Amino acid sequence: MATPEVRTSTPRVTEGSTDAGTVAWTRAQTAAFLGPRLEPEQLARVGAAFEGNRLRGAYADPDPTPVATLRSWDAELTVPGGTVTADTITGIGVRSTHRRRGLTDRLLTEDLGAAARAGAAAAVLTSTQGALYERWGFGLATRTRSLTVDTARARFRDPVARGTVETVDRPDAALALARPVFERARRRHPGALERLASQWDQILVGAGPWNGFEPDRTRQVVVWRDDDGRPAGYVVHRVEEGWFASGAATLGVVDLQVLTPTAYVELWRHLCSQDLVGTVTWSSASADEALPWLLTDPRAAVVGEDHAMLWLRVLDVPGLLSARRYPTEDALVLEIDDPLGHARGTWRLDTHDRIAPAVARTGGDADVALSVTSLGAVVLGGVDPRTLARADRLAERSPGAAGRLARMLAAPSVPWNGTRF
Ligand SMILES: CC(C)(COP(=O)(O)OP(=O)(O)OC[C@H]1O[C@@H](n2cnc3c(N)ncnc32)[C@H](O)[C@@H]1OP(=O)(O)O)[C@@H](O)C(=O)NCCC(=O)NCCS
Repeated sequence: MATPEVRTSTPRVTEGSTDAGTVAWTRAQTAAFLGPRLEPEQLARVGAAFEGNRLRGAYADPDPTPVATLRSWDAELTVPGGTVTADTITGIGVRSTHRRRGLTDRLLTEDLGAAARAGAAAAVLTSTQGALYERWGFGLATRTRSLTVDTARARFRDPVARGTVETVDRPDAALALARPVFERARRRHPGALERLASQWDQILVGAGPWNGFEPDRTRQVVVWRDDDGRPAGYVVHRVEEGWFASGAATLGVVDLQVLTPTAYVELWRHLCSQDLVGTVTWSSASADEALPWLLTDPRAAVVGEDHAMLWLRVLDVPGLLSARRYPTEDALVLEIDDPLGHARGTWRLDTHDRIAPAVARTGGDADVALSVTSLGAVVLGGVDPRTLARADRLAERSPGAAGRLARMLAAPSVPWNGTRF
């Protein structure tokens, strides 16, 4: 069998119709993820949402449908104290008849190389499987926790509500209010990603191949305004279980973003005080939600399962390390191993200048030696380098260096990305 050829395209949407190559690419990607077989117009609709993205495929000519797929685009990624451009990757799928022939390896290696040449500081992805992407240098950088609230038990320590809440029905009106809040909020969370229009659509409307493109009509958007009438937070929620059976519905939080602690309290107060609602759940909350601490009985909010969220692969060491800010003034030499070469080398990170940290190649002795995978895990401050040292995934070459690196990389808040892709 001939070796499939790797090709890259971008969707072309003209007068509402999507080009045949994108439709074929979308068919292949849906099948690899065991999705439903879609009608041509549904495939065209999914493909159109990929406008502006890079669609990579491995093609066994003359079949126009690829046997392996990968989709990527550039998005701003928040790092502590700044942002960088990240190659954002999804849709990695291989036809069941073509697995384990190195096709993912070819597509991913090519995508990472192109992103590095284009100047992306990092690449990010989310993964269905934990053991898959470390081999290409991705380290687990952000996690999420589930949060489940028993509304009957949830009493707020501060009983006085402030500001005003407003429900917004129309998705376009909701977007106009929610987007500016999100744009500011995401810059406060290391690990947060800029959103595509299609991601907003998924969040606010909830229509996609998985539900036959039927909008999720139980979705509601609630905006909180401060005393000056300014929107300072919003929540998108949906009904996960109706009230008919038990008399108390379960509301699922789809997205919750705030600019002030008060907005956070008041949106949760609103969620917990609705008639007919017994439980509120949020599967992708941050690992350090304040909610339990706001309640007279912290156990009314149960912090549950921990999930891997964002895997990060460093492509440009000086680009990434000099874009973030550091809480301590220090200098360390890092020896980074990278089988693909992008981050390989010995680098001196000097944070004495808090505004302009310096990163340069050096011939000096290393204080810390680590793989690019370990660097991806620690660089946003979500994993303590000392933990990786205990797991034999980071080596301390000078005494106390892992602790110094931990203090340098500490983030102002726990890294969190609330956008699935
Ligand atoms: C998972 C998947 C993308 C792998 O693609 P593939 O083309 O078979 O992978 P490759 O042949 O390029 O394998 C590259 C390496 O990864 C390893 N690998 C592949 N799939 C793996 C898995 N599921 N778990 C662990 N390792 C895996 C291979 O053994 C190989 O390692 P080696 O070089 O040491 O032999 C493919 O099986 C698939 O499409 N699965 C269904 C959709 C899916 O789960 N996509 C991932 C979404 S995040």
